[in-house]
Parts: sequence; C-alpha cells; structure tokens
Amino acid sequence: MVKLFGYLFIITSFFSFALCLGGEESVLRQPNEKAPLRFSADSTFKITLFADLHYGEAAWLDWGPEQDRNSSRVLSAVLDSEIPDFVIYLGDVITANNLPVPNASMYWDQAISPTRNRGIPWATLFGNHDDAQFEWPPEWFSASGIPQVSCPPADFSFSGEECYFGGTPRVELMKMEIEKNKLSYSASGPKELWPSVSNYILRVLSAKDGASPVVFLYFLDSGGGSYPEVISRAQVDWFNHKSKAINPDESVPEVIFWHIPSTAYEKIAPRPRSAIQRPCVGSLNEESVAPQEAEWGIIDIFTKRSSAKALFVGHNHGLDWCCPYEKLWLCFARHSGYGGYGTWPRGARIIEMTEHPFSLKSWIRMEDNTVHSEVTLSS
Ligand SMILES: *[C@@H]1O[C@H](CO)[C@@H](O)[C@H](O)[C@H]1NC(C)=O
Ligand SMILES: *[C@@H]1O[C@H](CO)[C@@H](O)[C@H](O)[C@H]1NC(C)=O
Repeated sequence: MVKLFGYLFIITSFFSFALCLGGEESVLRQPNEKAPLRFSADSTFKITLFADLHYGEAAWLDWGPEQDRNSSRVLSAVLDSEIPDFVIYLGDVITANNLPVPNASMYWDQAISPTRNRGIPWATLFGNHDDAQFEWPPEWFSASGIPQVSCPPADFSFSGEECYFGGTPRVELMKMEIEKNKLSYSASGPKELWPSVSNYILRVLSAKDGASPVVFLYFLDSGGGSYPEVISRAQVDWFNHKSKAINPDESVPEVIFWHIPSTAYEKIAPRPRSAIQRPCVGSLNEESVAPQEAEWGIIDIFTKRSSAKALFVGHNHGLDWCCPYEKLWLCFARHSGYGGYGTWPRGARIIEMTEHPFSLKSWIRMEDNTVHSEVTLSS
C-alpha cells in the first residue's frame, strides 16, 4: 500500500549546502537515511492534506475531547477511502492557545496517530494556533469559577510540571514528533529562519529511474502564534537559493505547502458567498480570505519559475477552492477537523500526481465518502 522503496532524501540545509557551498551551515539533523518517497509502480503518488484539525481545543469541557474523537473519525474515513502514499498536516494541528496541559505534543500525537496506525508516512507544518500561548477564558473568572482542567494521563511521559499553562514552542513540538516517529518526514528547518521552523524540502523519486526526482515538495512556515503571520524575507531568500541549487533548469515540478493564504489569494478569490465559477473550482465559498500580514516576494518568485505548479494552504475553514493566479494554482485545502470555527461538513483535499508525463490532479474527499471539486492543476 505504502509505496516506499530504498531510502529517503530529506534535503536538509546540510545536504544542499554541503553540495553547493561546502557545508558551512549548521547541521540541525543528520542527513536522513529514511526510505525516499517514490512514485508507485503504476506511476502515481497520492497525498492527503489534513488542514485545521485543532486537537486539544477546550480540553476541560466535554465537547473538546468529543471534537477530537470526531476528527479522528474523519481522518480514518478519508485514509481508508483514499489509501494515500503520504499525508500532509497543513497546520493548526492543535489549538495550543487553549491547552491547559504541559505539553501540546500529546494532542499533536493524537492527530498523527490515525496516519501512523495505518503505516502511512507524513509531514507536518505549523499554523497560527500550534504554538500560541494559553488564553485564559473570561468565564473562568465568572461565578462558575475555574473548572477542573484535564491534565495529561499518567502514562504519557512529560519532563515538565503536572499542569502548566503555557504553549509548547514550535521547535519542541517538531523535535518530539521527529524523535518519536519513524514515519515522520518533517524537519526543523535551517536555524537562521527561526522562529519560523517548518521550512524543508522533500523530493519524490521516480518509480523506476533510480535517484531522479519527479517532484519537489516545499514546506514553509507561514508564522502566527508566537510571531507574526508572514513568509519572511529570509524564507524568500532560502526558497530562491534552494530552488536554484537543486532545480537550476526548472525541469522538476515544484509543489508548495504552508498554512496561511498569501495576499495573492485575495486578488483571485471569488466574491464571498457567490457561486464558484470557472476557472476556479471548489464547493465552499463562505468567507473572505484571511491573508498573511504582508507579502515579501515569494509569490512573485513562484510566478517566475515555470516549475512552480501549485500552492496549498488551510486557515480559512469556510473556503475550499482552487483558482489560477497567472500560471500558478492557488488552492485551499478543506477543513478536516471538528475543532476550530465553522460547522461546514468535514473533508480533505487529495492530490494525485503522475510521473510520465507529469500531471497534478486534485479533488476533495468528504467524511461521508463523497468526492467533489476535481481539478487538473498541471498536465
Ligand atoms: C461529533 O460528530 C457527531 C456526528 O457528526 C455530531 O453530531 C456531534 O455534534 C459532533 N460533536 C462535536 C463536539 O463536534
Ligand atoms: C514537551 O515534551 C518534550 C519531549 O518530552 C520535552 O522535551 C519538553 O520539555 C516538553 N515541554 C513542556 C513545556 O513540558
């Protein structure tokens, strides 16, 4: 089922700098010996995107844990229908600003367990809620008083205090995931980009042709939580440098993932609550785009690279469309979790790529197993 053969390349900062510049950059991870991601024998590679799960929300109330059980049901249903080769958690995996427990990684772990239990490899990136500070609910200071908070179960290993009202920093969350999970392809990106952490590149190799990459998957951290919601100029430079180094002739397609839509999404968005019309494709158009705080050039770089095909974001739970922006496709995922605002039916955006010739298709798989909004993003 899982189409993994051989070994993986996570292109860490070490890897390409070692090749290009002689290994001056600090090494955050050892070059990774995991199996490389590879197209299957039938020449396809399928990814499921889970966006905005918000595990751990209102953990002290009945409906919080119930939401999490519901979210796990969505994840399981989608994974069993689609049987993807890879899963991407597109941020807001947890609602850290409501977590009265020492360690958000317990909820993080709940969110990845449906994927892990099925033996499917995955990667994660951060949204604006994943490392936010605790926000004290005003009602805790009303007549009803401060409720009993549900602290972590005794069998979960913590190094911290019993019940601590603080967020877990991005770097800690990522470290925890990577250390405990052989199937995780996530990485804490180059330190010079911190506090922005989930910046890394994965390559998916050809089914037959040994080491040749068919597509590069770029993961960026669009901020929020403990710092502003932006793709920084340093990240723009990092993308520019990396993409030119590993794909100088733009011959290998590139697909990009982060959490918060860029301001470019606003320019092409169908008017909120109007019908979604071609060339846009989607089913949910219930709110205005909530973009990043600034745009410092990354979209311009994508539009000038013939290899950059599509960008996928979450964040807006009431939007699920894809629209073209010049020669690039800008897509929303689909709200997958019962946590977070909005009660629109839950689902997940699916991406399927083929190798010869390269094509990129996408659709949305709902919790009730229906499929809609199929679109070809590159052929
Ligand atoms: C959980 O899912 C059920 C079935 O869809 C729904 O009726 C219920 O309201 C959900 N609970 C929460 C807390 O979202
Ligand atoms: C969360 O867990 C990790 C791994 O056990 C630990 O290193 C870290 O200190 C914990 N964070 C808090 C705030 O307890």
